[in-house]
Amino acid sequence: MPKGSVSASVIRRLPRYHRFLRELADDGVVRISSGDLAARMGLTASQIRQDLNCFGGFGQQGYGYNVQSLYEEIGRILGLGTHRRAVLIGAGNLGRAIAQHMDFVSRGFELSAIFDLDPELIGRQIAGVAIQNITALYDYCKRMNPTVAILCIPKEAAIKLSRDLVSLGVRGFWNFSHYDLALDYEGIVVENVHLGDSLSILCYRLSEMEK
Ligand code: NAI
Repeated sequence: MPKGSVSASVIRRLPRYHRFLRELADDGVVRISSGDLAARMGLTASQIRQDLNCFGGFGQQGYGYNVQSLYEEIGRILGLGTHRRAVLIGAGNLGRAIAQHMDFVSRGFELSAIFDLDPELIGRQIAGVAIQNITALYDYCKRMNPTVAILCIPKEAAIKLSRDLVSLGVRGFWNFSHYDLALDYEGIVVENVHLGDSLSILCYRLSEMEK
């Protein structure tokens, strides 16, 4: 399949397949039909077959899917074995929660440095990583070439710092600041995360159900 031709909605489902397959493998399930997998995931069997066919199939007629090998294939498609270096900017409430609770390694990243401008925070450690002064960011990027920046800072700071980070070679942003960075740069990959959007969708769905 040519690069970039798989739809965004299929790609958005891959981490969920990966998570379900991990749980199945942990429960000792060796193989599963598309029908069983669909029932567990609230999808249809034909959707699962269509999604996986985008990458060449993986199932066998009459056998279904081998859980461990499909799990590994999807991990490979997602690039999870690649451990890209990531820096986190903003060690406040959100940044701390992310640094402490996110399993970066299993998702293809290594949290290599944390930066903040608050003197109270500089020198403290989160998940074994020391918080450095933001003034050290330039030197750090020159030396360590991180690929990814996780932005847990207010919008105004994100606008300015993202420009610097792009010029320092950062190619991907996991962006929690309420600013749509994807619009500003070409050739940069941005995942904007808005927890509020998810909550609004919950509100919508409840409203629909109550009609
Ligand atoms: P916070 O105030 O606890 O932490 C922000 C941290 O960023 C502080 O430690 C501050 O010193 C640091 N900071 C500010 N400017 C900086 C700069 N130029 N360089 C380095 N560090 C800098 O705020 P909290 O709760 O952690 O939220 C962070 C941001 O994320 C806020 O702007 C908030 O609106 C946003 N947010 C987004 C969510 C989402 O779903 N996208 C959810 C929650 C918060």
